Amino acid sequence: MRVLVIGCGYVGQSLAFQLARQGHQVFGLSRSPVDTPELTAAGITLLSGDLTQPADLARLPGPFDWVVNCVSSTHGGAEDYQRVYFEGTRNLLAWLAPQPPKKFVYTSSTGVYGQDDGSLLTETAPAEPPSPTGQILRATEQLLLEAARLHGFPAVILRVAGIYGPGRGYFFKQFLSGEARMEGAGERHLNMIHRDDVVGAIIAALWQGQPGEIYHACDDEPVPQIEFFRWLAGQLGRDLPPAIAPDAALSRKRGVSNKRISNARLKTDLNYRCQYPTFREGYAAEIAAHQLQKPG
Ligand SMILES: NC(=O)c1ccc[n+]([C@@H]2O[C@H](COP(=O)([O-])OP(=O)(O)OC[C@H]3O[C@@H](n4cnc5c(N)ncnc54)[C@H](OP(=O)(O)O)[C@@H]3O)[C@@H](O)[C@H]2O)c1
Repeated sequence: MRVLVIGCGYVGQSLAFQLARQGHQVFGLSRSPVDTPELTAAGITLLSGDLTQPADLARLPGPFDWVVNCVSSTHGGAEDYQRVYFEGTRNLLAWLAPQPPKKFVYTSSTGVYGQDDGSLLTETAPAEPPSPTGQILRATEQLLLEAARLHGFPAVILRVAGIYGPGRGYFFKQFLSGEARMEGAGERHLNMIHRDDVVGAIIAALWQGQPGEIYHACDDEPVPQIEFFRWLAGQLGRDLPPAIAPDAALSRKRGVSNKRISNARLKTDLNYRCQYPTFREGYAAEIAAHQLQKPG
């Protein structure tokens, strides 16, 4: 397949390598591509362009069989989200309309769920995020679902949980730096997925995802924050982080939620099993790679 990976960052670059290894012809788009000998050796073509600029898209060497949009606005606020996710997707739909790909995968987020009662969510659960950024992600999904419904556009949506892996992992880094804090009794659930499994889930969605459908990309075990920190503390021989009283107003502003994301559909419909079924396997690999184990 001739594949365009839009947003050749943490996930996108790893995806590009994996697709190239599987024999596909891969193009990676970002605003400031950094070519490396590894990318060249893998035969990946890096393209420079901004998906918020229709003229940049018009210059791309299409058509493509598969297109994956895994752009991220990094740490932007609502305005950036609107530009990069919503308007970027609208630009992609317009650009691809004359020559649609066979499949289009968009990496949305489990941040579209606002539930805060720890309930187990499947893809049919209400997705009504309280935060402006969550609402933009949801509106972007709706744009794609509508294009699939009205025009047969082959969009598949992956709602991705918190990504960790080599060099990544928000709570892990906070734990290592001593900045981690337990919110209240630490009952809030964390939903995670290793980067290599995000890549695996995207490839599974490219082959087997049904247009107009949504799939969760997360591992097998939503875990209460306290259990996550307990495991890390045990592995690294450190204390549990101090607890702080949860700030309800701040949590609302940030759209902090408490939910357990089910990956049943990833297994049954996309036929994908995580290489790192829980955070334990994934972080054990990270801990070993950085020789962070407790002494003795
Ligand atoms: N991180 C998480 O925990 C998480 C959770 C749920 C979902 N997701 C989703 O997973 C996907 C992958 O995330 P990631 O962590 O791999 O992101 P990342 O490392 O921040 O990479 C994002 C890439 O997008 C490119 N990019 C940004 N703006 C662009 C634009 N306007 N036009 C073209 N390229 C642009 C960036 O390169 P330049 O800056 O050079 O353009 C970079 O290569 C994203 O869709 C993200 O929303 C992430």
